[in-house]
Amino acid sequence: MSQQTLLNNLNKQMLACTQCALRKTCNQVVPGEGSANAEIMFIGEGPGKKEDELGRPFVGSAGKFLNELLASINLKREDIYIANTVKCRPPNNRDPLPEEKKICWHWLEKQLAIIQPKIIIPLGRHSLELFIPNAKISEAHGRAFRKPFPPLKQITIFPSYHPAAALYNGSLRKTLLEDFKKIPKVLELICKIS
Ligand code: URA
Repeated sequence: MSQQTLLNNLNKQMLACTQCALRKTCNQVVPGEGSANAEIMFIGEGPGKKEDELGRPFVGSAGKFLNELLASINLKREDIYIANTVKCRPPNNRDPLPEEKKICWHWLEKQLAIIQPKIIIPLGRHSLELFIPNAKISEAHGRAFRKPFPPLKQITIFPSYHPAAALYNGSLRKTLLEDFKKIPKVLELICKIS
């Protein structure tokens, strides 16, 4: 079965998920979108208002900036995959609870197992702590970490600030642009060693 077919099947299962209480308050599940064989996978926190309305990740103001960041390194959304730590919008955009992230984690694991990205880019601290517990985003952003990660063999994690952070703190805009500039080089290095 192709990666796309596997992902389509997984998305159908996610759309029917009622494993946590978030599904009761959101409009719809937002599984993720992009290329089923993307080399780069971005993982945000959780759907916001606009994402909940449209059923697509990063389509609000943070998404606009993410598109700009991608364009700055000649990437389009179709080239990459974007998902979130939780697939349903937390009410009033509150942070996802650790319990909600724990319950939703197996979907992300399955997405990763199908897509097998070369780089995982956690966007913001909520996503980062799933991959590197106890790491601080202020210290880890813009650096590449390699670690064993079942069901994948070795993965490279390249944490970034969340694009929404730059909407509230102008100086982070430059940091995000600089960190994104490193992504093609990190990818090139991984391709050489793997
Ligand atoms: N912020 C996120 O973390 N994810 C989205 O999908 C949109 C905004």
